[in-house]
Amino acid sequence: MGIFNRKQKRAGQALSVLPRHIAIIMDGNGRWARKRSLPRTAGHSVGAETFRRIASYCRKLGVEYLTVYAFSTENWKRSKEEVSSIMSLLRRYLMEAIDSMEREQVRIKILGDTSVLDEDLRELIDRTEAISGTIHTKTQANLCINYGGRAEIIHAVKAWMGDKGAPELTEETLANYLYTAGMPDPDLVIRPSGEIRISNFLLWQSAYSEFYFTDTLWPDFDERELDRALEAYARRDRRFGGVKG
Ligand code: IPE
Ligand code: IPE
Ligand code: MG
Repeated sequence: MGIFNRKQKRAGQALSVLPRHIAIIMDGNGRWARKRSLPRTAGHSVGAETFRRIASYCRKLGVEYLTVYAFSTENWKRSKEEVSSIMSLLRRYLMEAIDSMEREQVRIKILGDTSVLDEDLRELIDRTEAISGTIHTKTQANLCINYGGRAEIIHAVKAWMGDKGAPELTEETLANYLYTAGMPDPDLVIRPSGEIRISNFLLWQSAYSEFYFTDTLWPDFDERELDRALEAYARRDRRFGGVKG
């Protein structure tokens, strides 16, 4: 049992500060591999395992949404070899998820423009999301694939413009056309690997998120590391522009 979980048991009050929605920029796979003289793809492979572990830990903690950045709209700039190995890992991940999702009790949803992905990958996404629709669990993992915050906003505006019965454009209306429609905004955004930037992740949704940065590379990120982020989050004073105390 992790530190945060123990603490929750001790002081029930800590439960009230458990984020409903955690978002993570899964960064540092390449550097993790380079440190070990391995190909970058080895880092992505271990990074996929880390995601599995962290998703399962979030389910145990009772987190409602875990959104992870797996492949950005800018990541196409990488070599063909690296892109295709990331896509193959996604394929493998989804195939395994189709078999294990019910046991794991985590729903999976893909966020991003999947229309340009290979057809077999799109089929796997459809199957994964169809099964997810039948699972009644508190926890949902959102996998951001070919996702960019700016592209998402443009996509939402176009969808709104094309929707004849759409209500007037307000912040709430636009939010309903984003990939995250119906979900709460992320309370906590975590970026491992020592980079202190947003890299086009959840630009709209992170307006009032708390940020947590760590030098740990994503393949080394574990339950204890998430506990540390949750403890830091629990100490934050969220004001949303208001005044407290
Ligand atoms: C994150 O790790 C995974 C993806 C962006 C697909 P990186 O591949 O960016 O790893 P670093 O940042 O080069 O170490
Ligand atoms: C952000 O990481 C995207 C993902 C983790 C999928 P990058 O490694 O692509 O971001 P930059 O290039 O360091 O900003
Ligand atoms: Mg990176």
